[in-house]
Amino acid sequence: MAEGPLKRRPDLALGSGAELFYETPLEIVRGEGVYLYGRDGRRFVDMYNNVPCVGHANPAVVKAMAEQQATINVHSRYLHEGIVTFAERLAGLHHDGIESVVFSCSGTEANEVAIQMARIVTGHRGLVCTDAAYHGNSELVGSLTCVGRAPPKTSEIRGFPFPERYRPLEEGLGEEELCEAYVARIAVTIESLKTEGAGFAALIMCPIFANEGLPDIPSGFMPRVADLVHREGGLVIADEVQSGYARTGLWWGYESTGFRPDIIVTGKPMGNGLPLAATAASKDFVDTFRANTDYFNTFSSSPLQAAVGMAVLDEIERLDLLRNAAEVGGRLTSELEDRVDLHDAIGDVRGCGLFIGVEMIKDSVTRKPDAASAVLLSNRLKDKGFLVSYAGKFDNVLKIRPPLVFSHENADEFLGAFDECVGKMGG
Ligand SMILES: Cc1ncc(COP(=O)(O)O)c(C=O)c1O
Repeated sequence: MAEGPLKRRPDLALGSGAELFYETPLEIVRGEGVYLYGRDGRRFVDMYNNVPCVGHANPAVVKAMAEQQATINVHSRYLHEGIVTFAERLAGLHHDGIESVVFSCSGTEANEVAIQMARIVTGHRGLVCTDAAYHGNSELVGSLTCVGRAPPKTSEIRGFPFPERYRPLEEGLGEEELCEAYVARIAVTIESLKTEGAGFAALIMCPIFANEGLPDIPSGFMPRVADLVHREGGLVIADEVQSGYARTGLWWGYESTGFRPDIIVTGKPMGNGLPLAATAASKDFVDTFRANTDYFNTFSSSPLQAAVGMAVLDEIERLDLLRNAAEVGGRLTSELEDRVDLHDAIGDVRGCGLFIGVEMIKDSVTRKPDAASAVLLSNRLKDKGFLVSYAGKFDNVLKIRPPLVFSHENADEFLGAFDECVGKMGG
């Protein structure tokens, strides 16, 4: 085994280029609730990690995991009541018509299932996504990343500009016209797939465009897009890997932006850290998918996934985390909004429950994105004991997305540190 300081060892053990956060990377040894602890015992408020949605090392989830593993854990080719009950419960959290579930182990896999399902059901290949999307890292799903900014990676995938009001597609348009302008771009994109031969299978999007930087969406955009997609014979896939599971204060991001997807993909928070993901759709779509693929995934649809998945849902309900996300997230967003006029470096604040984006800019006249400020601010906040990161098309949007057990007291402490750090930025 290699010797020496930990920070030098990953280069060899993991290959260079495995990303670490912060100028001085953190070594984390323990987590509890909303807190992470460094090797030196220092406590950090975790405002970044959405996977441990019911809190790091949640005792009820740990107990369910240990008990199930000590009883039986096996693949999906035996009858097991737990997995059926979990699938029924999950489907029941969606609107009528979403009846069946395919389990998998990651958001990437669940998106792969969704895309294959849409292609099989429609008989077409073409996919449409935003020009700053991230849906996963397999060859197929990875080819949806940032289409439109670079030349399309395949003839079957096209990007459209994600909707936003802060840097709109065209200046000077009213909200209604702006909405129309974005929808028209999607119509042209779908048409191009049809005329070039791929046909149109599906539009895939995160309902709150989390990776795009959590933009304010022109009102009415989502239902109009869903109508357009259906008129054109395609399906709407909602990638709820980031937006789902109470994050927005509602169970699903699509409820907060007002549309009904045909296929819903969930992942990250489902297992509070245990790899667990799902693709939900009508029984008809799932039957068709299974009949055409014989889909099997060794670690998925297991008694362990079911036990942990149920415990997470129980904890979300027991701890009233939908309400917590709406109330704490809503207040933190409005407190941060009050800071926009006080600091030139803050261009905009956007929030959706406990998912908040703070847009860092060079100045309020040009609104030029300032990725360096986002990096600096996240490093300073880390030094003060608060862990955030940044995202968005220009990597300039401070990303605040804590475990859902984040409290009003945590928010107050954070605001104090935020004011100190932003105050030193010269804005
Ligand atoms: C919106 C979205 N979809 C899918 C994925 C991929 O999930 P995973 O890393 O579990 O494959 C991610 C990962 O960050 C994501 O943000």
